[in-house]
Amino acid sequence: MRSYSFTHAITRLPAPSILDGLRAVDTGAPDLARMMQHHADYSKALAETGAKVIQLPALPAYPDSVFVEDTALCLPEGAVIMRPGAPSRLGEAGEMAPHLAQLYPNLHHITGADSFIEAGDILMCEGEVLVGRSARTNGAGIAELAGILAQWGIKTREVFTPAGVLHFKTDCSLMDAETILATPRLAASGCFDGYRVIHTGDGEEAAANAIRFNNLVLMAAGFPRTRDALLRAGYELREIGNSECAKLDGGMSCLSLRFTPPS
Ligand code: GLY
Repeated sequence: MRSYSFTHAITRLPAPSILDGLRAVDTGAPDLARMMQHHADYSKALAETGAKVIQLPALPAYPDSVFVEDTALCLPEGAVIMRPGAPSRLGEAGEMAPHLAQLYPNLHHITGADSFIEAGDILMCEGEVLVGRSARTNGAGIAELAGILAQWGIKTREVFTPAGVLHFKTDCSLMDAETILATPRLAASGCFDGYRVIHTGDGEEAAANAIRFNNLVLMAAGFPRTRDALLRAGYELREIGNSECAKLDGGMSCLSLRFTPPS
């Protein structure tokens, strides 16, 4: 299944400048040592599935650069370097490009001066790619991406990110080809009609950003109602500490690029 079976992941170590990372609400300074431990647990879980995990060094010039997901979309057909909508994050995409160029002969770039798109707004499903318009992703960015994906025969569907939510995937995750984990507020928009939807537990909206990676589902620790719903549905879970990334509105998907490069 191309939407959750992967041979590779790329992560990046957090830098001390993470203290200056973007956040919607200040809930306190992230503890770098604790974040490093959580990051190590996360990378270990990815590797446990048999994937090759490429860990890039910290990039102090970019406080949010631990959140590598936003820099690129990687598919079996090719990879697309994004144009992040947060000005302080724009340069992160160029930092990722040479690493992906080593794995992808077919590397595309979002180039329009008015195009902005962060891959945290992109949910890769089995038969389509959903892209949420948000404060970081605009119509021009979505149109440019859709044009590239169309060349590969991949359908793009534009959807909306709930007001006040950072990214589309802040509120949802793919669990398998037919199943989405989502907050009730996002699922109510109808954007997952046709899929089986598992709702996050009451008051556990922050559990929605999980990842399916090969045999495992990685989810943030501390959300027992959502955990139990996923266990009941038969998924093999790893709960990973996310207290420090959560202070920067980051979660499980933000911390990696997950892909199978062309052979
Ligand atoms: N702190 C992650 C972001 O705002 O992109």
